[in-house]
Amino acid sequence: MNKKTQMVHGGHTTDDYTGAVTTPIYQTSTYLQDDIGDLREGYEYSRSGNPTRTALESTIADLEHGRFGYAFGSGVAAISAVVMLLDKGDHIVVNSDVYGGTFRVLTKVFNRLGIDADFVDTTDANNIEASIKPETKMLIIETPSNPLLRVTDIKASADIAKKHNLISVVDNTFMSPYFQNPLTLGADIVLHSASKYIGGHSDVIGGLVATNDEDLAERIGFIQNSTGGVLGPQDSYLLIRGIKTLGLRMEQVSRSAVAVSEMLANHPKVEKVYHPSLKDHPNHDIQARQATGHTGVVSFVVPDIESAKAVIRNTKYFTLAESLGAVESLISVPALMTHASIPKEVREKEGIADGLIRLSVGIEDTDDLIEDLKQALDQLK
Ligand SMILES: Cc1ncc(COP(=O)(O)O)c(C=O)c1O
Repeated sequence: MNKKTQMVHGGHTTDDYTGAVTTPIYQTSTYLQDDIGDLREGYEYSRSGNPTRTALESTIADLEHGRFGYAFGSGVAAISAVVMLLDKGDHIVVNSDVYGGTFRVLTKVFNRLGIDADFVDTTDANNIEASIKPETKMLIIETPSNPLLRVTDIKASADIAKKHNLISVVDNTFMSPYFQNPLTLGADIVLHSASKYIGGHSDVIGGLVATNDEDLAERIGFIQNSTGGVLGPQDSYLLIRGIKTLGLRMEQVSRSAVAVSEMLANHPKVEKVYHPSLKDHPNHDIQARQATGHTGVVSFVVPDIESAKAVIRNTKYFTLAESLGAVESLISVPALMTHASIPKEVREKEGIADGLIRLSVGIEDTDDLIEDLKQALDQLK
């Protein structure tokens, strides 16, 4: 099955009972039992299982070439459930420019419970090896990373994880399952903030996890039911609906992001552009090897914070908002918004300059987006 077909036909999203072509929203908390413990389709209570959520979970499993899928109330809930696989005293290696919310939950919540994390530049596999300690049990990478679009070699890092008996986890939010499938490159677990490309319309917060490993799957399912951060049926339905057009959206987004990056790279007011499609991106070749297209996230640096604010004020089609991955183009200043929870010294060390602007290129007409950004930049003194 080719990819675009898989986006429409992946998972089991028709209704066996009525023949409904779309997945019904089973808005129920509990299920009739014909006798004590005699369940009709195995459903007992909607925290443990709900048919609309099951349809979504089967879809993400298929799309990521996994056997098991799980849906959570947010991307951070998905990440947290995966980290809960660990025990007190365990240690995690994480890419240094990880999403601010992932950094926050690891350094402000899980550290209090005795699970420590070290943040390293995983674009160099030697750094991963060097940071592994006897207590290290998990490797988490986000590739491309947020907001500097650094690329980690998924296969090389999964190989290192295997050698050291670590669970390797890839946050695949920026690529979506349409362009990149970490399980096929050797990762144990792939996860998504489904609030981004998978939902695609800025109307759902959700998180998805997929794996091929039966033991990990059983433990994640147990954690999902025990800690209860499940996705509701209405939001599960919206994510299934979003996935049907994921292929079309990603193709358009990728085309526009490449064109926008090239324009920015040639604009005199832009000091630097971060996008893996650019030939001078340090990990351009790895990206081309491990993915079949490009994320719509493009970051670039203007001289200072005032210039960044002016660009944001002057654009017409880029909405000032956090988040990414939706049909409409968004624009943000990471230092003041998504990454504000990371201390300034850590941000600067990581290269997140105050004049860094992050775009999430949407599905509008490519020429309109380019014209809009150009006129906003041309107005800078
Ligand atoms: C790469 C990445 N991972 C995880 C998350 C967290 O997802 P959520 O906001 O759905 O909790 C985000 C949110 O921006 C993200 O960009």
